[in-house]
Amino acid sequence: MGIIVNEKCRTITLHTKNTSYQMKIGNLDYLFHLYYGPTIYDADMSYQIKQYDRGFSGNPYESRNARTFSLDAQPQEFTTQQQGDFRTTSIEVINSDGSYSFNGKAVDYRVTKGKYRLDTMPTVFASKEDHVESLEVTLADAVSGVQVILMYAVFEEADIITRAVKVKNAGEERIHLNKLMSVCVDFLNGSGMDLISLPGRYGQERQVERQPMTHHIHTIGSVRGSSSHQQNPFAILCDREATEDYGKCYGFSLMYSGNFLAEAELDQYDQLRFVMGINPKQFVYEVGPGEVFEGPEVVMAFTTKGLTGLSHLYHDFYRSNLCQSKFVREVQRPVLINSWEAAFMDFDDVKLVNIAKAARNMGVDLLVMDDGWFGKRDDDNSSLGDWFVNEDKIKCGLHNLVEQINDLGMKFGIWFEPEMVSEDSRLYRTHPEWTMQIPGRHAVRSRNQMALDMSRREVQDYLIERVNAILDDANIYYMKWDINRSLADIWSNAQPADRQGEVYHRYVLGLYRVMDGIIKTHPDILFEGCSGGGGRYDPAMLSYYPQYWVSDNNHPIDRLKLHYGTSFVYPVSTMGAHISDSGRFIPLRTKAVVAMGGTFGYELDATHLSEEEQAICREQSDLFRKYYHIIFEGDYYRLSNPFTVGNMTAWQHVLKDKSESLLSVVVTNLTCNGPQEYVKAKGLDPMAMYTINDEEELYSGSALMNAGIPIEREVPEYTAFQFHIKKSEQNTEGV
Ligand code: GLA
Repeated sequence: MGIIVNEKCRTITLHTKNTSYQMKIGNLDYLFHLYYGPTIYDADMSYQIKQYDRGFSGNPYESRNARTFSLDAQPQEFTTQQQGDFRTTSIEVINSDGSYSFNGKAVDYRVTKGKYRLDTMPTVFASKEDHVESLEVTLADAVSGVQVILMYAVFEEADIITRAVKVKNAGEERIHLNKLMSVCVDFLNGSGMDLISLPGRYGQERQVERQPMTHHIHTIGSVRGSSSHQQNPFAILCDREATEDYGKCYGFSLMYSGNFLAEAELDQYDQLRFVMGINPKQFVYEVGPGEVFEGPEVVMAFTTKGLTGLSHLYHDFYRSNLCQSKFVREVQRPVLINSWEAAFMDFDDVKLVNIAKAARNMGVDLLVMDDGWFGKRDDDNSSLGDWFVNEDKIKCGLHNLVEQINDLGMKFGIWFEPEMVSEDSRLYRTHPEWTMQIPGRHAVRSRNQMALDMSRREVQDYLIERVNAILDDANIYYMKWDINRSLADIWSNAQPADRQGEVYHRYVLGLYRVMDGIIKTHPDILFEGCSGGGGRYDPAMLSYYPQYWVSDNNHPIDRLKLHYGTSFVYPVSTMGAHISDSGRFIPLRTKAVVAMGGTFGYELDATHLSEEEQAICREQSDLFRKYYHIIFEGDYYRLSNPFTVGNMTAWQHVLKDKSESLLSVVVTNLTCNGPQEYVKAKGLDPMAMYTINDEEELYSGSALMNAGIPIEREVPEYTAFQFHIKKSEQNTEGV
């Protein structure tokens, strides 16, 4: 059905397969939000809105003496400013006369086939098979000439609506934007809703928190210059009763890698306003006459099928419409071994070749040379920015090293941290002005490194040239793109004093340009993102990298939580997960089962493993390949919550046609003489018969889902189980 405009009622309704979203050009041409939820066909939802004379409310001047119309009580698509709505706003603009007013009235709209585009930032894309329509609604302030263009794209089959916003200065004088939120959704009654977010920290990213809405502004955000370890640009608003399996859930996922803000405000009338976009902190953006400023895209999803249903919408959509890399679907990801926890920066070419030789016996396809190969980098105090091979370490040269690895039948990958610079580097000595640093002040160091001023064209060009030169010098199959500090000392040499409020955002735009120049020009390279682990794990980054390092924390038990939290929005196919030495008393097989909850690889010195351990690893690498299609293409189910007390954590992948499933369980706690525990499967065909791990016995899907699988009790601590559940030719008829 796509986008339906009802000119008589002045409603515009966006329909996906199972959801509807409605707005209306209403009183005095303000754009009202009327509905987001299950399909409403062609109903006009304006009957819900009642207007009263509310004490102290502001009434637009054109309402004359009518006191019942106030924007403070009205659900809106995009808020005005200084027009009597005192809730949190979509926009804060300073006009040329110094006033802060924006009185946006709908002046135009148009519906087009296909997906709208943004010129400066990544967005999701529509493929040929997607039925996508876009809507643009223009709100204009008649006095200042400021126009806001609201953009919507409706992905009908995927049940996804995206939104973005542009501000056009159609006036004669420059204006300053202090705040621009990409999305505003006003819910008529939010008192029974919960907010779920993914807060965390270094080593413990994307833990899950759920809080009831109270009469406050609940904020999630980052001011660290990147989307951060501490918060993720994702939020769920759901019914208080919503569980994994049932209940209304709304998701908001922001395609932006810099400072962001989401605010959920339960107002005096129990209405809930949700806004999300670039964080206004230290953001002042000048928009000259005729210029346009774009805000990033928000990907919205709604379902009545609970948190799992919401995750499935995002997983499916992000697996098909986010990243164009051939490694998303066409080419299977390699099993990799990374040198970091094996050698840190203490390696040379011989050591790497030896690790590769041992790793080959473990079924590994790709050796990744992590930090330490460039400049004079022997520890983390120097050389960032000097992207030249250190031939004291790689004595044979990069080209030759890669050849040696290739001769072993393996592929080669390399690590970069393009955005950073060490003071002890040739680059810093030559171009101190390329660093983010405030004149006359000492810069904040973090890991003893500083950030390059990514807003500068020369810096961008240098990085594109340097990184590409290395990537093109040898047969490189994989690149890990890291960033290991938050930004401070926001100041650019290239901007005048009165435009320093643009630098945070210009950094992000510069970064995207560099990524375009490196990643898009190397379609055959597999890119993995990283930020001191999983610190910039956001959909904009995932539009470039098909996979992202979840965390520097490789402890398998912590990983259960990390994977659980990350899975609320991001598919398993994006989650970089390795077996490492972390968790010494945890069996290798258990580590492998956990790493198969992601892209699977190793992060240890393979030469230190015994033959028996190498054989276990080989067996696990083979299992990963065997189950790859289920892990990467299947629906993902969180079967238990590792944050609540329990004796085991379980999760499951199920192929869309329900023919195969992989159910994994890790026993995290052994209770003495405790009860028999069962794990109930999800997503199977209740009427079909299934085998488990190719054994003869048959189980009905209904039994496995309703009674569950008994989990062996008499096992060593931290034992893991993997149940490969496969549909048998037999069915339940006659059983
Ligand atoms: C970060 C990454 C690690 C590793 C180091 C190298 O911490 O998360 O995986 O690459 O940097 O310095």
